[in-house]
Order: sequence, then structure tokens, then C-alpha cells
Amino acid sequence: MAVTRDQVLAALEGVASPQGTPLPKTGTLSDVVASDGKVFFSITVDAAEVKAWEPVRKRAEEAVRALAGVQSALVALTAERKAGAGAAGPPQGAPARTAPRGESAQGVPGVEAIIAVASGKGGVGKSTTAVNLALGLSAIGLKVGILDADIYGPSLPKLLAIRERPQTLGGTRLKPITRYGLTVMSIGFLIDEETPMIWRGPMVISALTQMLREVEWGTLDVMVVDMPPGTGDAQLTMAQQVPLRGAVIVSTPQDLALIDARRGISMFRRVNVPVLGIVENMSYFLCPECGARSDIFGHGGARHEAERLGVPFLGEVPLHMTIREKSDAGLPVVATEPDGPHAKIYRDIAAGVRDQLKGAATGRAAPKIVIEA
Ligand SMILES: Nc1ncnc2c1ncn2[C@@H]1O[C@H](COP(=O)(O)OP(=O)(O)OP(=O)(O)O)[C@@H](O)[C@H]1O
Ligand SMILES: [Mg+2]
Repeated sequence: MAVTRDQVLAALEGVASPQGTPLPKTGTLSDVVASDGKVFFSITVDAAEVKAWEPVRKRAEEAVRALAGVQSALVALTAERKAGAGAAGPPQGAPARTAPRGESAQGVPGVEAIIAVASGKGGVGKSTTAVNLALGLSAIGLKVGILDADIYGPSLPKLLAIRERPQTLGGTRLKPITRYGLTVMSIGFLIDEETPMIWRGPMVISALTQMLREVEWGTLDVMVVDMPPGTGDAQLTMAQQVPLRGAVIVSTPQDLALIDARRGISMFRRVNVPVLGIVENMSYFLCPECGARSDIFGHGGARHEAERLGVPFLGEVPLHMTIREKSDAGLPVVATEPDGPHAKIYRDIAAGVRDQLKGAATGRAAPKIVIEA
């Protein structure tokens, strides 16, 4: 018989916090996930108390492993810095606390605006768009960071050719990587490639909190977040927990992708995050030899849909070999071919996003982006 959540919680009654309170009563536990004999949960404590809690984490893991029906147990200890608390943290002996829902939705100090790049389904070019949009924002004069929060397939290390790991600063803070003028962090650095998919959803909030709070982002005008594709629980929780100023939805022109894009839009609307606009990716095909354009997917669907839904249309990016090759080689077009037609498209999209952020735009569809081949 596989172990149940209640059995795990009962076992944790025998594990005490540094203050002597049974673990389930400390308010530090995340949801406990117990599935097929695998158990995962996290303990969230104040950053200043992490050391005292490490033995508790260990004991909790051992207690769960000792249960019949448990094949493996993973307990993560995550640190939360109190909003406004100095480096010293709370006074000694203060009770451990959990962040109430929504606390982590406060802004990140020094970061002016956080925007999500999202898609209702995978493989539509969300990461490619996120990277080139970030570079486009940087090219028009903003200070930009990019956070790869795609728990299911972190891809910034590849798209930006990052091979090194971030360094730690003074124990718990992480120093982000700098690439092409962008400040970069990837959830791929925190979640092991071996971590099974079903555990990634529950891990996302603690990993995300760490990425937002424990990384030295410095001063940024915009942080672009590459979200996991889809509109499931993990995505919804993220949309709630990250203090987003807005979301950019990426869609291909096909009908099916647009149904997904619509879902994405309604997810953000549900959590009161403004949709800054839609980008139509792989919009049309531009023949590399003759420059002729063909609308292989029946292009224009996203623009039409944007108008119908009253969401700004930010632009069309063609399906082009250069975009793919450059992306996959870690040489994004906006940075490496700044004078080319694709870079211009992304910079124009970036300008549209900036205008939306400023509130300068009127909500009308952005002007059609025509590219000269
Ligand atoms: N406009 C484009 N022209 C040509 N190839 C593209 C374009 N946009 C994306 N691609 C390619 O399509 C593939 C998928 O793109 P990408 O990884 O950005 O999508 P994604 O939506 O982030 O996918 P996932 O859901 O797996 O995270 C990549 O190989 C990328 O290089
Ligand atoms: Mg991706």
C-alpha cells in the first residue's frame, strides 16, 4: 500500500521544531505530496533560522522514509526573508513562520516591473520570445533581467549558452549570471534534472521564492519571466505568487494554439494580472533564398483573436531558420544580428511592451510590423 498524506503528517507529529513544537503545528509546512510511494514537501522558515532548521529537515526526511510504503522522501528547506527585515532577521527565539499567501507577491526590491512571457501550450516559441524580448527591451535602453521559471523545461542555459552555475554570496544569496547585458537566473540551477515531473509543481513556489528573494538582481527596469507552458495549477499558483505587472502571451497562428492562448489570457485575468498583449510566433514563412513570404499556417489568427478579446496585439515573428539556429546555438538574434530584420521585429515588440507598461498605449492593436527581407 502506498503511503498517504495523513500518514506522513502523523509521522511528522513526532518531529519537533527548534522551539519544540510538533512540525505539523508550526505553520511552516507546504502541502505534502504523497504519490506512488514518493513523498515531497517543503519547510519554509525565516532566512535567519535556516541553520537551526536543517537538523529538523533531516529528521523529518528520516521519519517519512521509515514509514511503510515510502520509497523515497524529499524534504526541502526554503528560506523566506521577512519583507522589510534587515539582514539580521527576527529576534532570537522568534517563532518560525510561514509566509502567508500573497506575501511573496510583494515586489522585489530594486525591480521596477516583472512581466511574464506565457503560452497556453508548449513548443510555441515562448522561451525564444522571452529571450529576444528581454534583449529587445535592453536594446531600447532598459536595464533588464530574465528569470527562467519553466520548471518543466528550463531552457535559458541553452538559449544563452550558459555553462557555469551561479556563485553563492555570503552563504544564502546567489549571484546571477550576466549575458548580453541581461541579468540571468534559471530555475534549472535549483531543480535537479533528475527530479521527477510530478514533484516539480509543488516545488515551484519554494524555488521561485528563492529565485526572487535570494538572488542579487540589482536594479532592474524590467524582469522578464519565462513561465512554464500551460494553465494548470503550477502556472496559476505562479501567476498568483509572482508580483506580476503584466503578461505577454505567445501563440502560433493555428486555431488550436489560439484556444490555448485564450486559456492563458483568462488565467491571468482571473488573478488580475493585465495582459500586455499577444505575440504571434512562427507567423509566416519567409523564404531564405528568395525572400518571398508565405502564410503556411494561415497567419493573422492571433491578431484577429487579440482584437476580439480586446487585448493589444504586439507583433508577428516569422518562422525563420536563422531564429531557430541562432537560438539553439545560444546566440539570440537580437544580440548577434542587431541590424537584421528579426532583431527589429523584436525591438518593436519590446517597444510595444514598454508602452503598455507605461500605460501609454490605448489598448488598440499595435501597428502591423512589416519586415523587408
Ligand atoms: N520564429 C521562429 N522561427 C524558427 N524557429 C523558431 C521560432 N520560434 C521558436 N523557434 C524554435 O522552435 C523551438 C521551440 O521554441 P522554444 O523553445 O522557444 O518554445 P517554448 O514554447 O519555450 O517551448 P517549451 O514549451 O518546450 O518550453 C526551438 O527549437 C526554437 O528555436
Ligand atoms: Mg521554453
